[in-house]
Formats: sequence, structure tokens, C-alpha cells
Amino acid sequence: VVLDPLDEVCLNKLKDMANVVYKPQDSQAIEKADVLIVRSTKVGEDTIGRAKNLKVIARAGVGTDNIDLKACEKKKIKVINTPDAPTTSVAELTLGLIICMLRKIIIAHNSMKDKLWKKNELLGNELAEKTLGVIGLGRIGTAVARLAKSFNMNVIAYDPNIKNSEHANLVTFDNLLKNSDIITIHVPLTIETEKMIDGDAIKKMKDGVFLLNLSRGKVVDEDALYQALKTKKIAMAALDVYEKEPYNGKLTDLDNVILTPHIGSNTVEAQRRIGEELVERLKEVFI
Ligand code: 3PG
Repeated sequence: VVLDPLDEVCLNKLKDMANVVYKPQDSQAIEKADVLIVRSTKVGEDTIGRAKNLKVIARAGVGTDNIDLKACEKKKIKVINTPDAPTTSVAELTLGLIICMLRKIIIAHNSMKDKLWKKNELLGNELAEKTLGVIGLGRIGTAVARLAKSFNMNVIAYDPNIKNSEHANLVTFDNLLKNSDIITIHVPLTIETEKMIDGDAIKKMKDGVFLLNLSRGKVVDEDALYQALKTKKIAMAALDVYEKEPYNGKLTDLDNVILTPHIGSNTVEAQRRIGEELVERLKEVFI
């Protein structure tokens, strides 16, 4: 049973392997499902309890924070995901948003649409020689660091699980906050990472820092971020993820923020790879 939109090629491959119910209207399908395939749809204890035949939950993507993993463990339901597939797409969007912020591309575009020629007000900054702080040096963080290096950025990173890296100088969390011109977050949502960017962390950042979050909304305290954007402690933020999604909150009122609707891995290529990886992982479990 597939609850969220899935790449067509993947869907056809699944149909060759099994009886597929795609985006069912009623919950009865879930009750009979052997495998549940989701993207960001929440799979809580109640759903898991109702799905009496469930053996596998497949997350078409990286983050499994939408799935009640404890309930799965209790019921011996296997949870699989596709951690490699979205890396390039999320990393490329991150660099795109950094360029958008430093060169004020969105403001420039909007002013042109308003028939205004704001050339003199649109003085930007180069990426070269700036210090980029990467929080979380997993697959995506490392890909971001690699791309940033090609722009001649000075890349530092904080990740308690990584001992050395050829792509970034590893530093402490406080050191990263203090020394980065631009900070980008690429961690999963866990008890340790929830609200790791709170008011205290923001206070330690450079005045006029640029902040990006393409990981999970709850890693950042949205109220503290809002205040810091208002006072310009944070010059500008780019967010792809929110505490509550879909998001339509007060950050949309600010001019110094770029907001995208969780599109990090929304590319044809990433979705195709996610589908391929998903099919392979399901084959490993069942064949
Ligand atoms: C992920 O965890 O794979 C990304 O955040 C993408 O989530 P999505 O599948 O809901 O777009």
C-alpha cells in the first residue's frame, strides 16, 4: 500500500512484484497491507496497530522521524529507507539558496516584477573566502561541503559522530557558531538535535550570519529564529523545512527569509533514484 506520490517507473516495478494499492481512499487497505510505502506521511502507533499484516514500512526518502520506530520495534515491523538517493538534490538546493541569499536574487527578481530597477540597493557578497559551517557531516552535509569547496569557501563542520574529513575542518559546536558566516544544518531529527538551534545558540553566532535549514524544522526553535531575523542578528535565513508542515506561519511575513515548501529531494532524478533504491531494498527483504 503506497500512501504518498511515488515515481511512476518505481510504481510499475512494484506492480510487477506485488499487488499494489496506490493512494487508497479508505483505511481498510492499510489494515490488509504487508508493506506500507510512505514519504512524509505520519505513521503513528494507531496506524501500526490497525495494520495487522504489516511486515515492512518503506520510507521513500531519508528521514524516518515520521514513523513511530518504537511501535515498529515492538511489533517486529522492519523499517527501511533510501538514504543515498536524495543527497545530490538536497546539496544542490543548499548551494542554490546560499547564492540566492548572498546575491539577493529573490529580492532582485521581485523588484523587477514590480517594475523597479534597484541596482544600487542590491549589493551582494561573494561566496569565496566566506566560512561555511556545516552542522551534520553525513551524506548530505559532506556533499554540501564538497560543492562549497569548489566555490573556494572555507568549510568547517560539527558532527560528534565524525572523527575526520577531507572535505571540512571539524570543530566544536560553539566554535562553528562563533566563526561561520553562513551556517547550514544537515542532521536528522533526534532527541539530541531537537531545537539545537535555539536562542542561546543564535546568541553565539556572528552578527549578520546567514542560516539555512534543509533538515527538519524542529531542529530550529522557530520563535527564536523569527526574533533573530527581526532584529537582523541573523541577516537572512533560507528554510525548506518547518516545525509544522504545510507551513503558513509568521515567518512568511518577513522579507529577510527565503521559504521553500520542503522540496529538497523533489527532483526528477532524486525521485527516480529513491524509487530504484526502494525496489532494491524491498527485494532484499522479500526475495
Ligand atoms: C527526506 O527525508 O527524504 C526528505 O526530507 C524528503 O522528504 P519528502 O519525501 O517528504 O519530500
